Amino acid sequence: AEPRALPRDLEGRRVVISAGGTREPLDPVRYLGNRSSGRQGYALARVAAHRGADVTLVAAHTADLADPAGVRVIRVGTAEELRSVMLAESDGADAVVMAAAVADFRPVSQVGHKIKKTDQDPEPLALTRNPDILAELVEARNADKLAASLIVGFAAETGDPTTSALEHGRAKLARKGCDLLVVNTVGDGQAFEVEDNSGWLLGGDGTEQPIPFGAKSRLAATLWDAVTRQLSQQ
Ligand code: CTP
Ligand code: CA
Repeated sequence: AEPRALPRDLEGRRVVISAGGTREPLDPVRYLGNRSSGRQGYALARVAAHRGADVTLVAAHTADLADPAGVRVIRVGTAEELRSVMLAESDGADAVVMAAAVADFRPVSQVGHKIKKTDQDPEPLALTRNPDILAELVEARNADKLAASLIVGFAAETGDPTTSALEHGRAKLARKGCDLLVVNTVGDGQAFEVEDNSGWLLGGDGTEQPIPFGAKSRLAATLWDAVTRQLSQQ
């Protein structure tokens, strides 16, 4: 889209967006990671900046993406780093969007040297849970320890034999307590799965808006529309 064609409806708003996938080190040369490209978070940052927002993009590992113009970019590695930067940067924000793919687990211990192979099989990898940053942001905000007007989560869901992707999304919204949750239906190859490449924008107030999943900039525009609507109602 042409930057000039976009509304400047985020002028005067400060938004903080996380993007990419965290990497959890095992030793100096190895990590547990995920396939997140960061493209959705970058598109959110680019569109928000075009619409006039003051944007901070907290980027974990991403594909080779150009920094969006006029956006402050802070790079992080692990979920723990992402957590501390998000908690610090989100204070005073009008909207916080967790588009990052946060590793759910990390190795219990990090070895200071490169792990060497021996003639034995290795011990199973011991993992521990990472903090749930989105849930923590909501908790801090609800306890008046963080001033953040709107907190937004993302979820990629597949259906399973007992529960549809939308139902998983609803449950996740309730669990996280965020104001908006973008539910992205991930195709799982099932013949019954008719919601491929589509999703919903779920509101904490019970609203459910179907989203035709096209370009990531399209989804970004839909999300910022919902954010500006909710901010103007506050
Ligand atoms: N998230 C987070 N911290 C984590 C895990 C996830 O802040 N440790 C955020 C993500 O950035 C996303 C939302 O929570 O905005 C949903 O992530 P998802 O992985 O779908 O949810 P989980 O609670 O981890 O549940 P599961 O992976 O079991 O579906
Ligand atoms: Ca997860």
